[in-house]
Amino acid sequence: MSEKLLSGKTAVISGGSHGLGKSVAAQLAALGADLVLLARSAERLDAAADELRAHGSRVLPLVCDVADRGAVQAAAAQIMAETGRVDVLVNNAGIPAPRTFAETTLDDWDAVIGTNLSSAFYLTRALWDALVASGAGYVITISGTAGVRGGGSPAYGSAKFGLTGLNHAIAQAGKDAGVRATILYPGGMDTGWRGAPIGKPRVESMDPDEVARLVAHLVTSPPEFVVNEAVLNPLSSPFL
Ligand SMILES: NC(=O)c1ccc[n+]([C@@H]2O[C@H](COP(=O)([O-])OP(=O)(O)OC[C@H]3O[C@@H](n4cnc5c(N)ncnc54)[C@H](OP(=O)(O)O)[C@@H]3O)[C@@H](O)[C@H]2O)c1
Repeated sequence: MSEKLLSGKTAVISGGSHGLGKSVAAQLAALGADLVLLARSAERLDAAADELRAHGSRVLPLVCDVADRGAVQAAAAQIMAETGRVDVLVNNAGIPAPRTFAETTLDDWDAVIGTNLSSAFYLTRALWDALVASGAGYVITISGTAGVRGGGSPAYGSAKFGLTGLNHAIAQAGKDAGVRATILYPGGMDTGWRGAPIGKPRVESMDPDEVARLVAHLVTSPPEFVVNEAVLNPLSSPFL
């Protein structure tokens, strides 16, 4: 997909400085999109932005804790002031959580629900008018297989299940405004998640660049239909 199908468009990617978010950013930049990357670490954001500018795209790295609604409001205002438009929003930022009920503290719950669920509403709400004004807005939400089967972690599973409801609501709100919404439920990706070593065999762990190619395909697909949701798994663990 080398054609610049997203030329003149702006994509906002939460957690765009690392892992899947950075892979998505690279795919969309290769298609000509200008990028806004949101994350907490300025150092990682700046490094990612420098790398991504090699595609010729404008890249705006914004330090923003997306679990902080005030920070999201401020970021949205800056995005509109500096880019004037938003065509694609990728709600991707996420953090891991304690795996069991007994290990999960109230602080863990707040942090994981804030980062993995509330952030997606804050961002989509704050950028909604721009997505509608795009005429062909697209909201991609990154869940995980924990959003289909739970998985034991109360905070992580609840956040990922919550994103399913949010994706439905975004799709309903967007249908008459030309805003499409897709939720992806990926299984294990090779991003160093939970400190896992990177470089696992591809049948065991998916390459985030390949998952990102699906995102690029979706946002450049014909606007007459929408893929509501997709579950993605490594070959070794199909169907969860
Ligand atoms: N990797 C997997 O195996 C896997 C499987 C299923 C689903 N997922 C989901 O895929 C998404 C991406 O995961 P990943 O593996 O690519 O993660 P990752 O490599 O750890 O990257 C996470 C990104 O999100 C940013 N981030 C985290 N908390 C943030 C906050 N409060 N505000 C703004 N940015 C924040 C991080 O930057 P800063 O730390 O600098 O903020 C980083 O850019 C997540 O939603 C995750 O739940 C991952």
